[in-house]
This record gives sequence, structure tokens and C-alpha cells, in this order.
Amino acid sequence: MTELSSNGVVAYDVEGGIAWVKFNRPDKRNAMSPTLNRDMMEVLDALEFREDVGVLVLTGEGSAWTAGMDLKEYFRETEADGLRGTRKAQRESYGWWRRLRWYQKPTIAMVNGWCFGGGYGPLFACDLAFAAEDAKFGLSEINWGILPGGGATKVAVELMPFRKAMYHAMMGENIDGKTAVEWGLINEALPLDQLKDRVTEVAKVLLAKNPVALKATKDAVRRVSLLSYEDAEDYLVRAQEAANSYDNEGRKEGIRQFIDEKSYKPGLGAYDK
Ligand code: ACO
Repeated sequence: MTELSSNGVVAYDVEGGIAWVKFNRPDKRNAMSPTLNRDMMEVLDALEFREDVGVLVLTGEGSAWTAGMDLKEYFRETEADGLRGTRKAQRESYGWWRRLRWYQKPTIAMVNGWCFGGGYGPLFACDLAFAAEDAKFGLSEINWGILPGGGATKVAVELMPFRKAMYHAMMGENIDGKTAVEWGLINEALPLDQLKDRVTEVAKVLLAKNPVALKATKDAVRRVSLLSYEDAEDYLVRAQEAANSYDNEGRKEGIRQFIDEKSYKPGLGAYDK
């Protein structure tokens, strides 16, 4: 059964371990308004640790994935509230993209149509990305007179070769799903009528994997790209060891002996192993 966020601008279904989350402002091409950004955080929060959710798919209702930031509600109206309004709107949008980048469950962007500007934030935040061949991707900021902010330039440079990123950011031309694959923006492009089946197939593969290992792996891929080889090697040793001891009950026992049993004080010594 489809459920709606508080303001109805995000819709979601959980079925067979997969949470299908939709931008749900089709009449506004799913542009990200402050309300949508708040609702998306609410939905991500509600789904993240649910036992019946193993993979989250982010897609869009209607002809768009998302037409980027809502130029009226996110820019014009928040700017009318001064710097306070702008910063608040930024915190809310960047906040859920960050939440999604480090989400507990594997995430897949299923790009059904338009994907512009600010949409590159959640696109990059998803671990994998599949799109319709006819979907259109664009850094349209230059077309209305700003630079690709909100992380969009960073996403282009992270995912695309330098020359492609520069061309994409400066020219304001759209690319289709196939070109987005060639340029590194997404994993695969398929005819729209095959998109959901392919994403379901990928999600099922992920559902069959160890969830602790998946979380450790997706975080590792993001982290090591920022590290030197030496630091990455060290990070990976520690991340592996942390994952191995994920079910370590020691801390709980330490708290139990202090709070419930009152048999020791952590400030004065160690608990009894
Ligand atoms: N912000 C606010 N409203 C939007 C946005 C947006 N980003 N995108 C679409 N809408 C609204 C339109 O104003 C229109 O509203 P109305 O029906 O009340 O007049 C409605 O959504 C439908 O839009 P159309 O333009 O009629 O839809 P169409 O299918 O013909 O075109 C397209 C779709 C190409 C996505 C077009 O709407 C468009 O160019 N949108 C802006 C894309 C963009 O540049 N986004 C900003 C990126 S930069 C950034 O995110 C920081």
C-alpha cells in the first residue's frame, strides 16, 4: 500500500524488502521545495532501520525524477527571508542528501525522467544509479545564471572525466541516459519499460548479501576516494575489524554492570569480562 509523507510530496511503498520512495510533485516536475526536503528526511528516517527494508530505491512520479531545486520556493521565497532563510533551506536539502550518502541500507537511484541541477545531490547520494535511456540529465544552472552549487559541481567532477564535467557544467546542454553511462554519471540505461525490472533484479541481488558487509563496503568506497593509499589501507583494515565485531556485546555488558548491577564504576576501573 502506498503511503504518503506529512505533506504528500513523497510517496513510498515497501514490498519484498525493497522500499520504493518517490519524489511526488509530478505537476511541478518533482522540483525540490523546502517542504519536499523536509518530507524526504522524514521518510528516510522512518525507513532506515525498518527490519522489512533491505534496499531503498529513489524514483520519481510522472515525467521527472526531479527538475532540481524549486526555483520559486527554494530560491526566491527563501531568499525573501534573508540569509537565515537561505541557510535553513540549504541545511534541509543538503541534510537529506548527506543522510542518503551514508544510509544504512544500499540505495539505488531509478531515474525515470528529468534530472537537473540539485538533483545531482541525491543522484550521487544513491550507491547505484539506473536510468531510462530517454531520461535527461543537465546542469542547467548556467542557463539561468548561477554556478552548479549545492554539491552539483562536485558530483560532476567526482563522477565524470574532467573534460566532460567542464563541458557539462559550462554548456548547459542535456545528455540522455546512454551518454550519462558513457560519462560515468550512472551505471546503466534501459528502455523505460524495462527499468523497474532491472532495478528489482539488482535490488534482489543486494538483498541476498550480508547487510553488515554491504554497509561497510559502500562506506569504504566513498571514504577511500578521499584518502591516500596508505590511509585507505589503514582505514580498510579498521573498517573490516569493526564490521567483524559488529555484534560485540561487550559495551552492553559494561553499561549493564554499571547501571543495573552497580558492580563497578567506569571512571575508576574496567567492567568484569
Ligand atoms: N522549480 C520550480 N518549478 C518548476 C521547476 C523548478 N525547478 N521545474 C518545473 N517547475 C514547474 C513549472 O514552473 C510548471 O509549473 P506551473 O504548471 O505551475 O506553471 C510545472 O513545473 C511544469 O513545468 P513545465 O516547464 O511546464 O514542464 P515541461 O514538462 O514542459 O518541462 C522541464 C520540464 C524541462 C523540467 C522544465 O520544467 C524546466 O526546465 N524546469 C527547470 C529545470 C531546472 O533548470 N531546474 C533547476 C536546476 S538548478 C538547481 O537545481 C540549483
